[in-house]
Amino acid sequence: MASNDAPARSAWSGKWAFILAAAASAVGLGNMWRFPYLAAKYGGGTFLLTYLVLVFTLGISLLLLETALGRLTGQSAIGAFKQFGKKYAIIGVLASIVPFIIVPYYSIIGGWVTKYTAAYVFEGPAALADGGNFFTGFITSNVESFLWMFVFMAIVFVVVARGVKGGIEKANLFMMPALIVVAVGIAAYTLTMPGALEGAAYYLVPDFSKFSPELVISALGQMFYSLSLAMGIMITYGSYLDKKSSLTQSVVRIGGFDIGVSFLAGLMIVPAAFVAMGSGDAVAAKSGPSLMFVILPEVFAQMGGAAQFVGFLFFLLVLFAALTSGISLMETCVSIVQDGAKWSRKKALIAVMAFIVVTGSLVNLGYNGLSFIEPLGAGTTMLDFFDFISNSVLMPIVALLTCIFVGWVVKPKLIVREVTLSGPFKLEKAWTIMIKYVAPVLVTVILVAFVAAQFGLFKM
Ligand code: PHE
Repeated sequence: MASNDAPARSAWSGKWAFILAAAASAVGLGNMWRFPYLAAKYGGGTFLLTYLVLVFTLGISLLLLETALGRLTGQSAIGAFKQFGKKYAIIGVLASIVPFIIVPYYSIIGGWVTKYTAAYVFEGPAALADGGNFFTGFITSNVESFLWMFVFMAIVFVVVARGVKGGIEKANLFMMPALIVVAVGIAAYTLTMPGALEGAAYYLVPDFSKFSPELVISALGQMFYSLSLAMGIMITYGSYLDKKSSLTQSVVRIGGFDIGVSFLAGLMIVPAAFVAMGSGDAVAAKSGPSLMFVILPEVFAQMGGAAQFVGFLFFLLVLFAALTSGISLMETCVSIVQDGAKWSRKKALIAVMAFIVVTGSLVNLGYNGLSFIEPLGAGTTMLDFFDFISNSVLMPIVALLTCIFVGWVVKPKLIVREVTLSGPFKLEKAWTIMIKYVAPVLVTVILVAFVAAQFGLFKM
């Protein structure tokens, strides 16, 4: 495709700018909010181990594939696939749907985090630690939950409207290490509480009787989500990267950073859940999206004079992680609309914002006005449904198609050549086998197992 309409493309100032931006997109609510509750729900150590294995094999391989494909083609998702033939554009189109599904519910959780950050200042730690009533009252409220969601959306909107590069990336350079320091501090404190070591053991030591297809599907979905994979974003980021920067080193750093933050978040939250609930089974049974908002405040409240400060700092840092990811999500949506509809940036920005406000409100209604809709069974909400569709269904499908495309259509050599432009690729053979065979088989088996389970062919 001749691109006569392409304005000058943005470019990173160097390798570290790229790593930082990718890490800023990757590290977000997925690490702080989603990973710990999934780990708690799916047997702790078993989930952690499965997740680690998946990230360091499949995850990093795909991260390398996407960034190299972007750098090779110099295009974002749809254009990158289309370059090899019109019919392949569909992979890019499917990938592009994902951020539109995620961004509305991401803003809802972002709103919860914004509310909590403010509540530590104005309402104090005791108000938040009341066994979940505060949280339930808030998310089911007809006014307040919407307001805070809009606040989060507005911040994201303002930043995206003003352009992302300068401020946010610099803020991230400070915020990410700060997040780690606070997480280590809170985890260390939590571990001194009665029952916490048992919780740490639950989190760290695998119990293989907990292994299930559902665990693997969830770990896989979490991997895509947390690494911002299978939605074209890493393709776009790769397309801004110069040919000299090492791709292999970069992706290992991005993946390592992301998993490090998830690991710490789990170490902080899973033992805390144990302190509050007493046993692995109770924790697993009760773990869900509310874990961070109900359990942690209880633990903070026990910190005496430091409670308010620690609670505030914690949620502020989660808020920053959420904002940087929310910004990269919205930025992705805007550029998709801009390229797809050939609209000006301003027009695309307004259209995306309108879309987010409407769909976000709709999904949020799932907690109050429309709570009778329980798409995934009793007690589930539309938010769970959107989360599930994007992470457990759509992203694996996009990843599968991408692997087949690179492994069997354009051939791995093409990507390998791009990777070796900027340094040696020691694991070339292993990577090729991963992309051609392991990844497609693994993802297919998981998807089929899931569909079969949905139709009741076996029980998950
Ligand atoms: N990876 C982010 C997180 O873990 C979520 C996200 C996905 C952000 C896709 C941007 C793009 O929270």
